[in-house]
Amino acid sequence: MNIAILPGDGIGPEIVAQALKVLQCLDEDFNIETALVGGAAYEASGHPLPDATLALAKKADAILFGAVGDWKYDSLDRALRPEQAILGLRKQLALFANFRPALLYPELAGASSLKPEIVSGLDILIIRELSGDVYFGQPRGIRILPDGQRQGFDTMHYSESEVRRIAHIAFGAARKRGSKLTSVDKANVLETSQLWRDVMIDVSKEYKDVALSHMYVDNAAMQLVKAPKSFDVIVTGNLFGDILSDEAAMLTGSIGMLPSASLDANSKGLYEPSHGSAPDIAGQGVANPLATILSVAMMLRFSLGKPEQADRVEAAVKKVLAQHYRTVDIATPGCIQVNTQQMGEAVVAALAH
Ligand code: IPM
Ligand code: MG
Repeated sequence: MNIAILPGDGIGPEIVAQALKVLQCLDEDFNIETALVGGAAYEASGHPLPDATLALAKKADAILFGAVGDWKYDSLDRALRPEQAILGLRKQLALFANFRPALLYPELAGASSLKPEIVSGLDILIIRELSGDVYFGQPRGIRILPDGQRQGFDTMHYSESEVRRIAHIAFGAARKRGSKLTSVDKANVLETSQLWRDVMIDVSKEYKDVALSHMYVDNAAMQLVKAPKSFDVIVTGNLFGDILSDEAAMLTGSIGMLPSASLDANSKGLYEPSHGSAPDIAGQGVANPLATILSVAMMLRFSLGKPEQADRVEAAVKKVLAQHYRTVDIATPGCIQVNTQQMGEAVVAALAH
């Protein structure tokens, strides 16, 4: 099994180093190769997704990705900005299905910004379409209007086949859980959403055992903080999924707890924490590596065919939380506050026992 490691920028290298320790102590015969991506690659070679990095990612069975981006690149041409690396990987590797589970560990109920009774027991899965929508739609740009002022524009579109394939993924995933699927759209305003909804309804005929409902995205944003436990699986487009998955992350105490998997049609995947590169805390050793470590668990389960190893990693994370180890983002009174490296070491120690 070939695994490509792309640490990226900001806190990326720190958290990936801990996840790598966890991966390496599993005693499996993985072939691991590392490459630069994002701002780090731009500095070294003038492009955020160099050919060599893309080639490594293409030949790998799975990719572990840290995070990319830094404000210092905000004035670069869009094509050279760090974010283009992750967007380019998603597009070029056809990683269209993004799984973002929001699971509240009982020990972290007090770390959520919502009351414990609203979030305790929370276990939802957001499935975000990842390779279409206004993120990639053409044309886009900034143009000059006849009156001389500039106008920014983007194009939102989804083809029927794009909606159909993410629908099958979502219905399949819902079937393995609580069999409740909420499709989130903005069909009261957008044509793209109307087609999305029509296709969801059509595909639902093949999954009579899954209860499909529809929700407008504004209401979904509200329900996520009002009654988050009423959701089981959410399926939505790229842009809405970006926003709602950050919101769902906060319910779990910290975005530092949320792993993600981005899969192609053959279960090859890119695994990354749902959070960003957090340049404000980079290099301080305070970042929470658990989202990245939990992303390794998803990698073991979805792409490497090692579900029992995935269970081990997840059990080790549960154990360190039960032992009260906390990075600052999830610190609660009475906890044992640790830094990034100590958290990684605690998970490795938990795996050994
Ligand atoms: C995410 C991130 C990315 C996105 C950025 C870094 C391009 O916010 O993975 O959610 O918008 O998809
Ligand atoms: Mg995001």
